[in-house]
Amino acid sequence: MSALKPVQVGLLGLGTVGAGTLAVLRRNAGEITRRAGRGIEVVHASARTLDKPRATPTAGIRLSADPRAVVDDPGVEIVAELIGGLDPAYELVMRAIANGKHVVTANKYLIALRGNEIFAAARAAGVTVAFEAAVAGGIPVIKTVREALAGNRVEWLAGIINGTCNYILTAMREEGREFGAALSEAQALGYAEADPAFDIDGIDAAHKLTILAAIAFGVPLQFDKVYVEGISAITRDDVLYAEQLGYRIKHLGFARDTGAGIELRVHPTLVPQRRLIANVDGVMNAVLVHGDAVGPVLMYGAGAGAEPTASAVVADLVDVVRALTTDPGNRVPHLAFQPDALADAPVLAMDAVCSACYMRLFAVDRPGVLADITRILADRNISIEAIWQKEPAEGAGTVPIILLTHRVEERAINDAIDRIEALDAVCGAVMRIRLEELS
Ligand code: NDP
Ligand code: HSE
Repeated sequence: MSALKPVQVGLLGLGTVGAGTLAVLRRNAGEITRRAGRGIEVVHASARTLDKPRATPTAGIRLSADPRAVVDDPGVEIVAELIGGLDPAYELVMRAIANGKHVVTANKYLIALRGNEIFAAARAAGVTVAFEAAVAGGIPVIKTVREALAGNRVEWLAGIINGTCNYILTAMREEGREFGAALSEAQALGYAEADPAFDIDGIDAAHKLTILAAIAFGVPLQFDKVYVEGISAITRDDVLYAEQLGYRIKHLGFARDTGAGIELRVHPTLVPQRRLIANVDGVMNAVLVHGDAVGPVLMYGAGAGAEPTASAVVADLVDVVRALTTDPGNRVPHLAFQPDALADAPVLAMDAVCSACYMRLFAVDRPGVLADITRILADRNISIEAIWQKEPAEGAGTVPIILLTHRVEERAINDAIDRIEALDAVCGAVMRIRLEELS
């Protein structure tokens, strides 16, 4: 065992991930020391409420209500930011860097929106900011894409990268559960963000996609360019119809280098049931990366929860400890590519993106309605793969119609949807869900 004194860590936040990190560091202290070459010890932690019962005992750790006391503690060498959000996390991380401390964070919001500045400050100060836990919880996806796939040109990647959304969609499909009840359960299990709208509206997945795209394609972090749709409009009927057509609805983050630009989009997606990723259920996440040399690589694991996330936080702590004595200029670049070698590839406007589509609409059951709908599609050169008129619900004056199209440019399908919705015989909005074969 190492004779060096343990590395002293300051923990900002003692919630789901903070308490999980403390538990894993304690339980696996022997293994971690053997791997890192030194012990890793939490000496100072902060939380808003100090007298709250914690999932992991904090005896022996100095506790402060003011997180700046941790960041300014001269004994602390590494700060683990496990608070979340931008404020006060951004100020605390920048202050830790200015104090010459390394930082580990699980905060995708912070990295996606402020990462460019944070990494520049870290480089200037010669410290590391590690963020494995920020994407896909316990799956080592950052390390894999940044280091293990470094020989590849990444062509595209697709991921189920929000555990809460996947948990809800799975509960709707497998148990016929209502959306709200499934969300409450995900919150009780500690999977959801402090504001669960970040999960169900797709913002959390967009944060993660921003980070993945940066390390996969060597472009700057650009969250504001991600197209984002959440899952709240998905009905149990859509889940059922997709299933009957041989697909699963998954909330996917998708990024592709088209040559003309990068697609960055997060939305519900029909995926063929036979794909492995379509069978990733509950809180599990999966990221499928397609490299030109390796082909497809699929990573699977728990996307949220105390100890799976702690697994990634602790791995980052070990990495930082191993690198403490290395020359800062020779460390793995934060975003995989050398900071002066980032590409300026544009992000494609959503209008120019192509994908196949599922459409569900309600129409009056009378002659000529299907012909009107298919004419609108044909006029825009949109090819139909399948059309299906379902039985009407008892007493309903309309019938559900389901259409699958071949790949079509977004601006053409948007125009077609506007025209279909304007037909007298069509009631309400058309539900459109994009479809990706992921082959
Ligand atoms: P929690 O809400 O469970 O914990 C947050 C902790 O930060 C609490 O201890 C809280 O104190 C403290 N805190 C909150 N606001 C402040 C503030 N303004 N000043 C000081 N301390 C504050 O969050 P999680 O542990 O779930 O998430 C932490 C981070 O990890 C987030 O960035 C999240 O996105 C990320 N993450 C979470 C995952 C999960 O499964 N939960 C998975 C992957 C990443 P108190 O306890 O007293 O309220
Ligand atoms: N709220 C996030 C999720 C936590 O559900 O995936 C993990 O990042």
